Amino acid sequence: MDGVTTQDLPSFYERVGGAPTFKALVDRFYEGVAGDPTLRAMYPEEDLGPASDRLRLFLEQYWGGPKTYQETRGHPRLRMRHAPFAVTPDQRDRWVTHMLAAVDSLDLPEPEDAELREYLVRAAQFMINRFE
Ligand code: HEM
Repeated sequence: MDGVTTQDLPSFYERVGGAPTFKALVDRFYEGVAGDPTLRAMYPEEDLGPASDRLRLFLEQYWGGPKTYQETRGHPRLRMRHAPFAVTPDQRDRWVTHMLAAVDSLDLPEPEDAELREYLVRAAQFMINRFE
């Protein structure tokens, strides 16, 4: 195994099918957001398309895909970027519900399916910034 490093292994991004998988994930997620008036009211833009692109590019980058998010938006600093939005435990629950339903629709192999779910639940918990 001399000379074989983790850099030679396919990334999570590649293992789950690359760009089309992340596109399907966020499309399905934003369908859920669009149908949830409480959550939908948090999104400032009438068109959810740009928000969808930002989330998709972030997730692609996080999981080892293209670095387009960083190139276009800079360092993620996600907690800071969510500060203007009141993310309560209720908003977190709604976000997680729609996101895990979107993951269901992908039908990913294990262990990637579990890894993705654990990350999303943990990241959503971390984004809570109001208790009311
Ligand atoms: C916990 C519940 C969450 C709520 C209610 C929420 C809500 C929002 C809202 C309202 C925006 C602004 C929409 C826009 O981009 O114009 C936003 C942006 C964003 N959110 Fe969340 N979010 C949550 C969790 C998360 C999590 C867990 C992640 C990552 C795993 C995430 C990633 C992002 C990204 C990447 C952006 C765009 C940041 C940028 O401006 O570049 N969010 N979110």
